[in-house]
Amino acid sequence: MADISLEKATKEIAGLRRQINHHNALYHQYDAPEIPDVDYDRLFDRLVELETAFPQLQTPDSPTQRVGDKPLSGFAQVKHDVPMMSLAKVFNDTDLADFEARILKRLEIEDADAEPPVYSCEPKIDGVAVSLLYEQGLLVRAATRGDGVTGEDITHNVRTIGSIPLRLDTSGSPERLEVPARLEVRGEIYMTRSGFAAMNEAAERSEDGRTFVNPRNAASGALRQLDPRIAAQRPLRFFAYSAVFKNGDGKNGDGGNTFASKSIASVPILSTHSGILTLLGQWGLPLNPERAVVSGYQACLDYAQQLLAKRDKLDYEIDGAVLKVDDLRLQHELGSNARTPRWAMAYKFPAEEASTLVRDVEFQVGRTGTITPVARLEPVFVGGVTVSNATLHNMDEIERLGLRIGDRVILRRAGDVIPKIVSVMDSSGMGTEAIKGESIASVPIKTISMPATCPACDSPVEKDGEVLYRCTGGLICPAQRKESLRHFCSRTALDIEGLGEKLVEQLVDAERVRTVADVFTLTKDDLISLERMGDKSADNLLAAIDKARATTLPRLLYGLGIREVGEATALSLATHFGSLEALMQADQEALVQVDDVGPIMAEHIAHFFANQENDKVIAQLRERGVSWPEHQAQTVSDELAGQTWVLTGTLETMTRDEARAALQALGAKVSGSVSKKTSVVVAGPGAGSKLDKANELGVKVIDEQGLIDLLE
Ligand code: IVH
Repeated sequence: MADISLEKATKEIAGLRRQINHHNALYHQYDAPEIPDVDYDRLFDRLVELETAFPQLQTPDSPTQRVGDKPLSGFAQVKHDVPMMSLAKVFNDTDLADFEARILKRLEIEDADAEPPVYSCEPKIDGVAVSLLYEQGLLVRAATRGDGVTGEDITHNVRTIGSIPLRLDTSGSPERLEVPARLEVRGEIYMTRSGFAAMNEAAERSEDGRTFVNPRNAASGALRQLDPRIAAQRPLRFFAYSAVFKNGDGKNGDGGNTFASKSIASVPILSTHSGILTLLGQWGLPLNPERAVVSGYQACLDYAQQLLAKRDKLDYEIDGAVLKVDDLRLQHELGSNARTPRWAMAYKFPAEEASTLVRDVEFQVGRTGTITPVARLEPVFVGGVTVSNATLHNMDEIERLGLRIGDRVILRRAGDVIPKIVSVMDSSGMGTEAIKGESIASVPIKTISMPATCPACDSPVEKDGEVLYRCTGGLICPAQRKESLRHFCSRTALDIEGLGEKLVEQLVDAERVRTVADVFTLTKDDLISLERMGDKSADNLLAAIDKARATTLPRLLYGLGIREVGEATALSLATHFGSLEALMQADQEALVQVDDVGPIMAEHIAHFFANQENDKVIAQLRERGVSWPEHQAQTVSDELAGQTWVLTGTLETMTRDEARAALQALGAKVSGSVSKKTSVVVAGPGAGSKLDKANELGVKVIDEQGLIDLLE
């Protein structure tokens, strides 16, 4: 604990409580959080820290002494049979090791060779905690967690969720156990990511254009509507994660799976948490398919790592792994603290949302002149990386967000997806006014408007269509030239290794390269005069340029940067016309005959070749030794027809794209995930869960050499 005086702590505690209460109300009563969870957690954790250091300052009304917040009025209140607790959390491996050490100590297991505890591992679903009450097998009531003791009755909405059984069915259960007369199933209602995305797309097109910040808020909002038709339209689902029931004369326990101790001895499935989940599944309740039972915290860590690697591929959001001591007798022995059980732990993943400040908005000019606003942010750690820029796409997006320079915003970065500003935090709120005494930077508020002239070349900016703005400078605009050149040299175009962003920038600024054809006039003297360019790198670059002279028609077509012509279209055009001459002669009617070419793209293509400047560049490319043979469609052999292959780990002698293309040329399908239907998995060094899965399913696994042998 930092050295802080009692007086200072008293002050800070008061401030924190005020802020936390404010955010609790917004979150739990109005579904309108102003700050992302990470910020809330920081406030909360700091309060816990201070109250631990100064126990004399702890009060019964402190927000640390309750689990959630007051239920919303307007809904009937529901008192939970057993309080709904929350989970303690750790963010790293050592703290998880400590969790197990504490368990062993409490259970008085001192023998270092003793078997470690067995854990039920589950994804921590980022949804809304609910309690479903079944009486005589019938769903009679559904409630939110509320403050953990009292929640709100949301039965009318929950009944609309198709995957929640209205009646439990014991006929499929090999255990032949009767459903307890009164059974409370707990779990998480969530919204699928795909459903959320579709819903937001529709919302964006709607009149007010207001979208939902994330699937959890959207789910929570739907459950707190008085009109069940709203919930019925939302893609809501449920996963069960525990049950509370009295069986015979049992006493209720602490919020996990609870039942009479008598039955533990007699029915094995009732003696573990995972057993109870299995039973719930047999009765028709949806269970998360990613759960696992493992032994010891080290295996829990492995589980968490594998789950994290899958995070983006799941159709629901998770924010960590939950690790629960599986043996219910041990759970009982371990008991609970005020808010959290001692037998469970949340291992949290990096947050995908964070708040930050928009310091400025700049306008970037793309290859075809489109002008895109980009926010310059106060750097912030989100989704596992530090982010300092976010694209704002277009002016409509700025308007939709109501964004101004100087606003605090919620930034989201999920998986490898580019970071996105999802909302502007209400600046009237108490937000992040001062956490841990840090004062948060501020920037004067300023509205954002599209400049009248191009920031790179001062040519007039024109509106193009509904939302886009474009620089009219064409080739005189250095920004457009740089972008075209970068695109031309990129890996999937001419693939000139070493001619990256920095060099392109210098070459264009020095006016040494104007068009893409000028790349092929570069000399060693030109290169050595550039910053950070040694003798050896200059030779390497010249060799790379020379190598790129022998290219292919699809690469050239893609590299020329014709509007809307991506890699796939470039390939279709090359396949259809065979040569550049034939393509250049094609009119729009001929162009639309090509797969994936519509009238607008046909116009762009025709327009491109009608421009004499472009003709000149193509002629210069030829003069300077660039060549592309006539394109022949690759003949697909059927050697691997009907097979599905998966590539995983690192390949050393070829890129993944090359391996995929080679397999496809032999008629195989190449998939991203392993299943029973997978024919062969090619595993290189670093292969992880896909390899494990292949081994588990008995799918054939070969290494890179095996693949090379086959291809040869
Ligand atoms: S167990 C006493 N299991 O995480 C333990 N919780 O602070 C009760 N959550 O809002 C929770 N997935 O709704 C448990 N597999 C899972 C979970 C899970 C998500 C939520 C829970 C609560 C929060 C815990």
